[in-house]
Amino acid sequence: MENRPVLIAPSLLAANFLELGKEAAMLNESEADWFHLDVMDGRFVPNISFGLPVISQISKVARKTCDVHLMIEEPEKYAEAFQKAGANMLTVHYEACPHLHRNIQQIKNLGMKAGVALNPHTPVGLLENVIRDVDMVLIMSVNPGFGGQSFIEQTYHKIAQLRQLIDDSNAHALIEVDGGISAENAGQLIQAGANVLVAGSAVFASENPSGTISELKAAAMAGLGKM
Ligand code: DX5
Ligand code: ZN
Repeated sequence: MENRPVLIAPSLLAANFLELGKEAAMLNESEADWFHLDVMDGRFVPNISFGLPVISQISKVARKTCDVHLMIEEPEKYAEAFQKAGANMLTVHYEACPHLHRNIQQIKNLGMKAGVALNPHTPVGLLENVIRDVDMVLIMSVNPGFGGQSFIEQTYHKIAQLRQLIDDSNAHALIEVDGGISAENAGQLIQAGANVLVAGSAVFASENPSGTISELKAAAMAGLGKM
C-alpha cells in the first residue's frame, strides 16, 4: 500500500453554531484529523460565514490542526490576524491573489503552513511556478460559498493532473479536496491522488457525526489500498 497521508477535515460550516463547543469536543474525540474552518466575506463569494472571533474560540479548544480556508478578497490584510487567532494552515484563493507568491511567503513568514485554493474553472497548471513553495493545494469540487452542493465530476481529472505536477516537480504539497464529499466518493478521490478530504454536510447533517467521520476515514483508506 502506498505510504501517503490521508486525512479527514470536517468543515464546521455545517455544524450547529449554538453548540460549537460540543461540536469541537466531538471532533477532538473523533477520527477527524483537522478542523476545517471556512471564512467567507460576501465579496469573493456570495455568502458570509464566520471570522476571527469565532476561530479564536475554536482554536483554543481544538486539539487538532486548524485548517482555515479564506474565501476572501485581499487576504494579505488579515493573514497576521488569523495567525493570532490560531490558524495552523492558511489557504488563500488563487483567484483572489494577483501577487500569490507574496501571499505564500507572508503566510510562511508568519509561521503557518500555506495553502492555495483553486475554483472549479481554474487550471492546475497555473501553479507550476509556485508548487514547490506551497504546503497544500485545495481543489474546490463545488463553487465556493455554500455547503451542501453537488460534487463536480471533473475534479477527479484535476486531482490526477495536480498529482502529476507535484510528482514531476519533486514538490511536497498535500492535495485537499473540498465540496460534495461523502463516504461514497472518498475512496475514489484518494485513488485519484488526494490527501485531505473536507466534508461539511455529510458529517454534521448525519445522525452520528463521529461515526460518519470514521466511515469517511475507512473509505479513504480503502482508496489508498487500491493504488
Ligand atoms: C464551501 C466550503 C466547504 C463546505 C463544504 O465553499 O469551502 O468547506 O463547508 O461543504 P459540503 O461538504 O457540505 O459540500
Ligand atoms: Zn472549505
